[in-house]
Amino acid sequence: MKSFYITTAIDYVNGSPHLGHAYEKVLTDTIARFRRQMGDQVHFLTGVDEHGQKVQASAKKRGIPPQQFCDEVSAEFRALLPKLNITNDDFIRTTEERHKKVVRAVLQQLFDKGEIYKAEYKGFYSTRQEQFLQEKDRLPDGTWPELFGEVTEIVESNYFFKLKQYQEWLVDFLTTNENFIFPAYRQKQVLEFLKEPLNDLCISRPRERLEWGISLPFDENYVTYVWFDALLNYYSAVVDRPEIWAEAHHVIGKDILVPPHAVYWPIMLKAAGISLPKGIIAHGWWLQRGAKMSKSTGNALNPLDLVTEFGTDAFRYFLIREMNVGQDSDFTREQFLVRYNSELANKLGNLVNRTLNMTTRYTGGIVPAPEVEEELENGLRQLWEKTQAEFIPLCEGYQFHTALERVMEFLTEANAYVEKRAPFRLAKSAEPKDQALMRTSLATMAESLRLAVAMMQHVTPSTTEKINAVLGYTPGTTWRDELVWGTKLTGAKVAEALVLFPRPAPPEKAAAAPKA
Ligand code: MSP
Repeated sequence: MKSFYITTAIDYVNGSPHLGHAYEKVLTDTIARFRRQMGDQVHFLTGVDEHGQKVQASAKKRGIPPQQFCDEVSAEFRALLPKLNITNDDFIRTTEERHKKVVRAVLQQLFDKGEIYKAEYKGFYSTRQEQFLQEKDRLPDGTWPELFGEVTEIVESNYFFKLKQYQEWLVDFLTTNENFIFPAYRQKQVLEFLKEPLNDLCISRPRERLEWGISLPFDENYVTYVWFDALLNYYSAVVDRPEIWAEAHHVIGKDILVPPHAVYWPIMLKAAGISLPKGIIAHGWWLQRGAKMSKSTGNALNPLDLVTEFGTDAFRYFLIREMNVGQDSDFTREQFLVRYNSELANKLGNLVNRTLNMTTRYTGGIVPAPEVEEELENGLRQLWEKTQAEFIPLCEGYQFHTALERVMEFLTEANAYVEKRAPFRLAKSAEPKDQALMRTSLATMAESLRLAVAMMQHVTPSTTEKINAVLGYTPGTTWRDELVWGTKLTGAKVAEALVLFPRPAPPEKAAAAPKA
């Protein structure tokens, strides 16, 4: 079996999880489930980033020790995972000893090799971003952009990692490995960024300025810069399992691609003599009225509210169906309801209802064998073949939204087939030909449904499971033979009904409106 290792970014614990964090988990889970269906041995890691200035400041504000603060907020991030039906194999916290041990070992190794040096540094520092700024970061009027918060000039001795000397190597690497970053246009942006000379990276913070971090193994007066610590989580979690590390793929948001994941990370690994990940998938942002959802702007939605109202699968479906991986999407309740009603309730829900209902009424709940194939059956089957042929390549290219669109188109045609074939009319006829067609149509509906939900199982796993159960069907573990049109359901006993995606309660406003 082929290994496949997939990670999410690790979230800062300075605030509660929001829709952006939930999306990244759902997207990564979709990829993990997809790879499992393809037969890969998947290892899925997620976790939290607990060190650094932001966390220290948030704990101080709450008046509790940073470790206690991290314990509380991390528990919240962790609790979100089962609510979203995330199938992670591991959850890492950067305050865990297993992680700190690896960070110290890598630092010591780089120090011993002369990749890290001490120097005096004078410069402008942004506390909010925890980074030194350069002249080119200034706005044309000489001020600093809002995102840096308060900027002060400081002089201090620090440790630096020799990033600059790897610039040419990185350009070469990215030029040779064209598909390292998805989407491809992001890789071009990284190469564009690398046209400017890199500076060495300051990887320490004096303890008097920041206490909450991993001590440098070669100088206790300093703690490790939070990004140098955090990036290593992907490696520290599997340090004893090289076969997993060899297949690493990182899912992250576009805001943390350049420079951390596309520049610091490959160079850190190269310098430490560790092999590079296979790929980076950089997704876009969920916006609200055009602005990035975030803790600091206060426009973030709580994913749990939507899960409570609509259910986990509807929430997962919306996120994956709506977002083209890499691009941004605006989140609106209206659009959520459109997808919920017109796709999940009407297209999928309808086919489920019709299949169960008619099979119960006309053949005693037993799925009949198909007997004839006429133009209508043929047409649907041909659409299936086309859908199936496109499906796996679309998912392999992270085009999950288009793959779901194809499934919906197939469901639309399956519903149209029911109307045209009209088993409810055929059932009334005593003609043997009509009876054979009626039985064929029930078999065709059930088979279409089975195939459609098989293609949704990485996105809506419990719905697929429920529908398989009411179809009296136990699926195999991979898609290899699942996604083949056939007679797997012949003779299966279906349930009478299944309630899926009920109409949501009308908004309070409408309920409270005075009667005309
Ligand atoms: N701690 C760092 C990551 C370290 S990875 C070694 C961090 N944390 S974060 O909490 O700010 O963000 C975690 C992830 O959530 C990032 O990949 C980020 O892009 C993603 N999102 C945060 N807000 C988002 C949206 N509004 N939309 C989609 N994802 C966004 O950065």
